[in-house]
Amino acid sequence: MKYKDKRLHVLDQRLLPHRVEWLCCSDATCVAKVIRDMAVRGAPAIGVAAAYGYLLAAHAAIAQGDDLTVTTLEPAYRELAAARPTAVNLVWALDCMAACLRTVESLEGDERLRRLSAEAQMIESRDVEANLAMSQLGAGLIDSDSERGWVLTHCNTGALATAGQGTALGVVRDAWAAGRLRGVFVDETRPWLQGSRLTAWELQQESIPYRLICDSAAASVLATGQVSWVIVGADRVAANGDVANKIGTYALAVLARHHGVKFMVVAPRSTIDRDCAHGGAIEIEERPASEVSEIAGRPVAPEGVVVYNPAFDVTPAGLIDALVTEVGVVRRPDRAGVARLFE
Ligand code: MRU
Repeated sequence: MKYKDKRLHVLDQRLLPHRVEWLCCSDATCVAKVIRDMAVRGAPAIGVAAAYGYLLAAHAAIAQGDDLTVTTLEPAYRELAAARPTAVNLVWALDCMAACLRTVESLEGDERLRRLSAEAQMIESRDVEANLAMSQLGAGLIDSDSERGWVLTHCNTGALATAGQGTALGVVRDAWAAGRLRGVFVDETRPWLQGSRLTAWELQQESIPYRLICDSAAASVLATGQVSWVIVGADRVAANGDVANKIGTYALAVLARHHGVKFMVVAPRSTIDRDCAHGGAIEIEERPASEVSEIAGRPVAPEGVVVYNPAFDVTPAGLIDALVTEVGVVRRPDRAGVARLFE
C-alpha cells in the first residue's frame, strides 16, 4: 500500500495473482470498504490502512472547516473499527491515531494534521522494523537439519499482509537466506485461498522452493517427518497466549503436536490484546456463504446450500511452542510470558 497526496493506494489482493491492479481511496469510508471486502488484508496491513483512513478523515474534517478533534473523527473511527472484528491491529492502530490527536488538540489545525500524518507513517515504519526483528528471531529457532529441512505455513503472512517483509513468511525468508531451509509447504487455505493465490506468488518471486498443498494434505505431509516447524501469523493473541488466526490454524497445531512437529506463531506486539483474557473472548468473524459455496464466482455446491464460514479459529496456548515478537521469543507462551513482553 502507498499513501501519497491525500490518497491511499492499495494493491487489490482479490485479483492476485492473475491481475495486478491498484485501488485508490480518498476517504475513510473507502478505506473501511477495501478492508471489509479484503482488497487489503492481513492483520498488520489492515492496521496500517486504518491509520491512513483516519488521517483521510482528518483531512476531510479540516476541508469542511470542522474542528479537528477525537470527537469529530468518532464516526470515522467507528466505521473503520467495524470493518473487520478479529484482527486487533485495526483497533490498535486507530487507538494510536486517536491518542495522538488527543495530545495535540491544543495546537492549530494544520499542526494537528502534520502530527497525525507522522503518527500514521510511524505505525507503518514500526511494522517494517518489527517484521525484520521477528524474522531474525524466528529464523534463529530453526535448526539447519537437512532431514527435517521443510516448514509448513498457512494463509498469507508476507509482504502483502504487513507493511514490511512479513511475519511468519518473514521468518521463512530469513531462514532460507541463512541456509536453514529446504523449502516450504504452503496450505492453499480454503476458502479464500490466501496460500495458493498470495503466498505461492510471493515465494515464487523470492525464488524460495515451495510445494502448494490442499489443506487436507497437511496431516500426511507432517507424518513424513520432513517438517521441523509449522509457522503461522496471528490476528489476535490473548493475554494468556491463546491465538486467533486463519481458520485451519488450530487443526494444524493439533496435527503438529501429534507428529512431534514444533509450532511457531509470529506476530508483532500490536497483535497482542492484553485486555482479552483468553481465546474464548475473541470475536470470530463470519464471512459470506459465497466464499465457501463458490470458487472464483462459480457455484460448487447445490443452490440454497446452508454454509457456516468462520474466518478464524483459536489455537490454545498449550499447543504453541514459540511466540515470536519483535521484542523477544516466548517459549510455551502463557499469561506470565505474554506479560513479560510489555515490561
Ligand atoms: O482473513 P485474512 O486474510 O485477513 O487473514 C489473515 C491471517 O489470518 C494472517 O495469518 C494474519 O493476519 C497474520 S498476517 C501477518
